[in-house]
Amino acid sequence: MKILAVGDLVGKVGVQTLHDNLPKIIKENDIDFVIVNAENAADGMGLTEKMYKSITDLKVDVITMGNHTWGKKDIFGFIDNDNIIRPANYSRGVPGKGYTIINKNGKKICVINLIGRTSMNVLSDNPFTVADDIINEVKDSVDIIIVDFHAEASAEKVALSYYLDGKVSFIFGTHTHVQTADECILEKGTAYITDIGMTGPKKSVIGMDVEASIKRFLTSLPEKYKTAEGNGKLNSCMFEINDKTNKVVKITRINVE
Ligand code: FE2
Repeated sequence: MKILAVGDLVGKVGVQTLHDNLPKIIKENDIDFVIVNAENAADGMGLTEKMYKSITDLKVDVITMGNHTWGKKDIFGFIDNDNIIRPANYSRGVPGKGYTIINKNGKKICVINLIGRTSMNVLSDNPFTVADDIINEVKDSVDIIIVDFHAEASAEKVALSYYLDGKVSFIFGTHTHVQTADECILEKGTAYITDIGMTGPKKSVIGMDVEASIKRFLTSLPEKYKTAEGNGKLNSCMFEINDKTNKVVKITRINVE
């Protein structure tokens, strides 16, 4: 089975770039299952219902979110669907769910969304212990477990990868919007990459307008962030899983510029 994880969609350019490229990537690589992080799709913050529908129309199996889950109030109208998850380590009782289980090609696939606590400015529960709880709950009834760890600090992401090694098929990082080149298969068989990158405007500061971003850093004034325009790029990572062991045998970063 081949599973594609697509890096954070940023703004209209990101959604359009996904539409322009995903069908071809799925076809050329025989992809069976697609996960897309879409927490920045609507102007960099949140996801509208229209965008949610346009993404799921593209054979996307699961949408993951992050620190901007609640950025657009539309979210409360569709967060309870099985194909969208928000960080599992948010406070108990918030809408939506932190993991989902999807049946695809004879496999039960569990996708878990977690958010980091280092430099994230989000009050959340411990992602390590919440991951333990979910894995213990689902491990006997699913074939494949996948984690999208939406986090700022590379150290926190790497630490979680070692902590969960052997317990999940693969872990990919999102949120920093810069793709890392450290994809690997750990000692006990879990595949890992610190960040799969971004699908959004190519000339940008992690998706945001270059001039506005420079002005913020230059003056420290509260310049409003706006998503950049122009040509898009797509960052993603494909994980090939052995159907007998449910472990990753190959990781390939797939990028379109
Ligand atoms: Fe984020």
